[in-house]
Amino acid sequence: MFLFCFQIMFTACELGVFDLLLESKELLSSAVIAERLGTSHIGLQRLLEACVGLKLLRMERKDNEGLFGNTDLANLCLAKSSPRTQYNFMKFLSDIVYPGSQYLIDAIREGKNQIQSVYAIASNDPFEYVYSTEERLQRFSSAMGDAWSLHGQELLSAFDLSCFQVVCDVGGGNGALAKEYISLYPKATVTIFDLPKVVEGAKKKSVSSEECRISFQGGDFFKDPVPEADLYILARTLHDWDDDTCEQLLTKIYKACKPGGGVLVLETVINEDRTGPFVGQIYSMMIMLFCDGKERTQSEFNALLNAAGFKEIQSKKGNNYGAILGRK
Ligand SMILES: C[S@@+](CC[C@H](N)C(=O)[O-])C[C@H]1O[C@@H](n2cnc3c(N)ncnc32)[C@H](O)[C@@H]1O
Repeated sequence: MFLFCFQIMFTACELGVFDLLLESKELLSSAVIAERLGTSHIGLQRLLEACVGLKLLRMERKDNEGLFGNTDLANLCLAKSSPRTQYNFMKFLSDIVYPGSQYLIDAIREGKNQIQSVYAIASNDPFEYVYSTEERLQRFSSAMGDAWSLHGQELLSAFDLSCFQVVCDVGGGNGALAKEYISLYPKATVTIFDLPKVVEGAKKKSVSSEECRISFQGGDFFKDPVPEADLYILARTLHDWDDDTCEQLLTKIYKACKPGGGVLVLETVINEDRTGPFVGQIYSMMIMLFCDGKERTQSEFNALLNAAGFKEIQSKKGNNYGAILGRK
């Protein structure tokens, strides 16, 4: 049921239902929506009604006809044209994660990722397939970036970070979080450090040249030096790796960090008693398909940060993610 609910939402999103209704100044009938989107009426009417059931659309009856409009949720993040759209992430779920979930049973039986089956590749590199063509790379980077238009400001303001002016977003992808950072902290500059292919893609697409407070450095964070900074951000990067690998990366960052500097980890944080949150448990299952990492509890993050040398660890919980700040 859950999977099908998602597919109903994604189908309406992909067809442009929410964009049409966002632009429309009035409620529209199913016949008008079907005509404007070039779909069958019979199919679209059923889709719209299911979206009403899922509370993605609202319906009013007039002259014995249903008229449809967006809910606030649809306006906020389901229209592709919304600044906070989650379309790219949903597309990634639909195209990659859900088809791949057929191998979840193997992941559980074997206790290891299934990327070779999911992507039909020989390599065990979790990023090889998603970066194997320019189109896949842009899709993955945009999918990751969607979260920060919704949650970025909340997490970056969890602590007053204004004392950190030189920031490095390690594994910063397309720069979506960096954009939120510079808008919140007007004196800060952010360097996005990510694999060379990702950085090239981000330069082309995601960050416009006038955002001169964002710069890029391509490299491999396991092999190359990380840029000098007061604050290192690790957003949804540790969750890709096992504990030993995280410790190796955090130790490298600790050594590069200026005294008085810090590290900000943004991740879903699992409750200490492991009863939730639901979203973290789901992400942890997804991760199991694609890499050797996991979502972690606060104590697990504390242990990793302490082992690398970071002290004075503070944490704040947001809606989907937590913010954890450690100091050198
Ligand atoms: C799950 S994504 C998170 C992206 C971004 N921080 C976010 O939260 O949207 C992990 C990021 O780590 C980057 N990454 C993976 N391995 C890397 C490596 N060896 N060196 C540098 N970056 C790497 C990936 O390219 C990707 O952008």
